[in-house]
Amino acid sequence: MSTSPDIAVVIGGASGIGWATAQLMAARGDTVAIADLDGDAATARAAELGGRTSGHRVQVTDEHSMRTVFDTITERHGAIGAVVDCAGISRPGTIADLSLADWKATIDVCLTGAFLSVKEATRTVRDGGSVVLVASLNGRQPGVAMSAYCSAKAGVLMLTEVAAMELAPRRIRVNAVNPGFVHTPLTSGAGLVPGLVEEYVENTPLGRAGTPEDVAQTIGFLTSDAASWMTGSAIDLNGGAHTMRYPNIIERIADMSAANGATDA
Ligand SMILES: NC(=O)c1ccc[n+]([C@@H]2O[C@H](COP(=O)([O-])OP(=O)(O)OC[C@H]3O[C@@H](n4cnc5c(N)ncnc54)[C@H](O)[C@@H]3O)[C@@H](O)[C@H]2O)c1
Repeated sequence: MSTSPDIAVVIGGASGIGWATAQLMAARGDTVAIADLDGDAATARAAELGGRTSGHRVQVTDEHSMRTVFDTITERHGAIGAVVDCAGISRPGTIADLSLADWKATIDVCLTGAFLSVKEATRTVRDGGSVVLVASLNGRQPGVAMSAYCSAKAGVLMLTEVAAMELAPRRIRVNAVNPGFVHTPLTSGAGLVPGLVEEYVENTPLGRAGTPEDVAQTIGFLTSDAASWMTGSAIDLNGGAHTMRYPNIIERIADMSAANGATDA
């Protein structure tokens, strides 16, 4: 069983949800390894947390890079108890307009990165440990102009279930979280489109967007003994937004362009 304090790897841990998760796990006594594409930020975050925290550069889409960083972390800290994959990108665009390169980049980081995170976990997480994959509300609720992201996150949900079955004999639990709209650097662009965040909030029964800490709390639970009977599950975490509908990004951008056109005229 996963017990705290433990050795935890937070991939994509230099920013947003990953950084909030790294802070929460360190605060409860875990030794945290922060791995991120932005290696300098990972090192700086690790220094901020102090103690035995370490920072590492990793490219989640690259098997060699993932293997090397997991080996380094194991050598430095010992057997890993929890892996949390928070790395993600989003490249919006309608299917007609989305480039193949943007489709592939999104699938690569969000889905292949999750696959390699689980694959490395099979090698380096001790029996009784756990894995948490950050999927999304968009893994189960479609959004116009979000085909790549929605498809990748839906894939993460199925990956979670398959991994849970495969790792259960070693009592390694694999679960996912499905955050709705959370204010992080990833979503800062949405704030530039008038009305977009407001439309999300209007379609959220609890009437607010999320914070990275909202998500970190649930990841903390899933990696703790309190969740020892949970595997292959996904927790919706979105203020109830999954009961309603996702904002139409393209309509909002069109409104913005029309408003700008009217101003220019
Ligand atoms: N913010 C939201 O509204 C929201 C909602 C649902 C799901 N999510 C998911 O939560 C996770 C964290 O997102 P966030 O909002 O904290 O974003 P963020 O941009 O703040 O953090 C993502 C981190 O992942 C790292 N990263 C990106 N590509 C990488 C790669 N190829 N290899 C290694 N690291 C890489 C980035 O450097 C960054 O530090 C993502 O999987 C995202 O899809 C976010």
